[in-house]
Amino acid sequence: MPGPSTVLVTGAAGFIGSHTCVELLEHGHEVVLVDNYSNSSPEAVERIAKVAGRPPAAVYEADLLDRRALGEVFEGHSFDAVIHFAAKKAVGESVALPVEYYDTNVGGTTALLRAMRDHGVHRLVFSSSCSIYGDATKVPLTESDPARPTNPYATTKWLCEQVLHDVCRRLPEFSVLALRYFNPVGAHSSGLLGEVPRGVPDNVLPYIAQVAAGRLDRLRIFGDDYPTPDGTGVRDYIHVMDVAQGHRVALDHLDDERGMRVLNLGTGRGTSVRQLVTAFSDTCGTPIPFEIVARRPGDVAELVADPTAVAQAWGWTAERELTSMVDDAWRFQLLNPSGYAN
Ligand code: UD1
Repeated sequence: MPGPSTVLVTGAAGFIGSHTCVELLEHGHEVVLVDNYSNSSPEAVERIAKVAGRPPAAVYEADLLDRRALGEVFEGHSFDAVIHFAAKKAVGESVALPVEYYDTNVGGTTALLRAMRDHGVHRLVFSSSCSIYGDATKVPLTESDPARPTNPYATTKWLCEQVLHDVCRRLPEFSVLALRYFNPVGAHSSGLLGEVPRGVPDNVLPYIAQVAAGRLDRLRIFGDDYPTPDGTGVRDYIHVMDVAQGHRVALDHLDDERGMRVLNLGTGRGTSVRQLVTAFSDTCGTPIPFEIVARRPGDVAELVADPTAVAQAWGWTAERELTSMVDDAWRFQLLNPSGYAN
């Protein structure tokens, strides 16, 4: 489907959604945004238009589980494709609130699929997650490695992939790309868009940024007794603008073949928590205070992508280095000390 198209983006005001909207607008696509702002803010939509230099075609405040509201979105436009980000994503919260996670993540996806089918829209890029691999026994991970989700969040993503497989088997007109991203971090280089967690951040990079800014006293490193080179958890951090670009390129490849395909989005490079702390200290010019505490339940030692499949399929690789992820996250923190509130 190369060339400009009309794309529905769900969860468009969120961290990855907002950066992807900018990428799409900058490349000539018409973008329709949907978000219920349950974990995001309308200010993100203002920032998308500012950074991209032009507004989206339409913006809807709607919940995917509201069938009537979703129907109105589909009736108002002729979509060439859908990019589905809208979901809950905090691992710890998913353990405490499994019903809410299955409802929003799996129920939201089936509601969207129903609307797509009923309105003749058959191209979908789905936001999946490396957490599906769970407690992996090897790195790097390829798409054919077994799924071993270790928490409800990861299980919702795995279940959605199964739903999508079944839909594609039964309805051959569907083309679906599920992108399993590793750990998206960083921010737009303008400093206008970034990750805005509500309350105390769950994820390590926004947490370190708030420690560096003096909003939190120190980082708690969850365990230094993992079987990794320095004992701390190793992840494949990928710049959010590479993830955004990956979605834009995915649109060009939805028609390569019918049915369901699964691809990793990662760099293939692992970084430990200690290495991340050192990189951030170098960027902000002061040491990041930290203490070692117990492992976090549900955490795994190491998750690193084998990014070969996407490189072979599209000739595309995530190129931004760790230094630019850290520099951009720090710039966003400095320019937006209270997130989008200021
Ligand atoms: C998890 C999911 C991932 C999802 C992401 C979104 C798993 C295995 N991964 O990523 O798929 O996209 O959430 O929320 O379920 N750490 C600390 N101190 C902190 C926070 C984190 O030491 O305060 C460590 C963790 O132990 C881990 C690393 O930093 O080793 C990254 O943690 P985090 O940023 O929370 O991401 P994941 O748990 O890898």
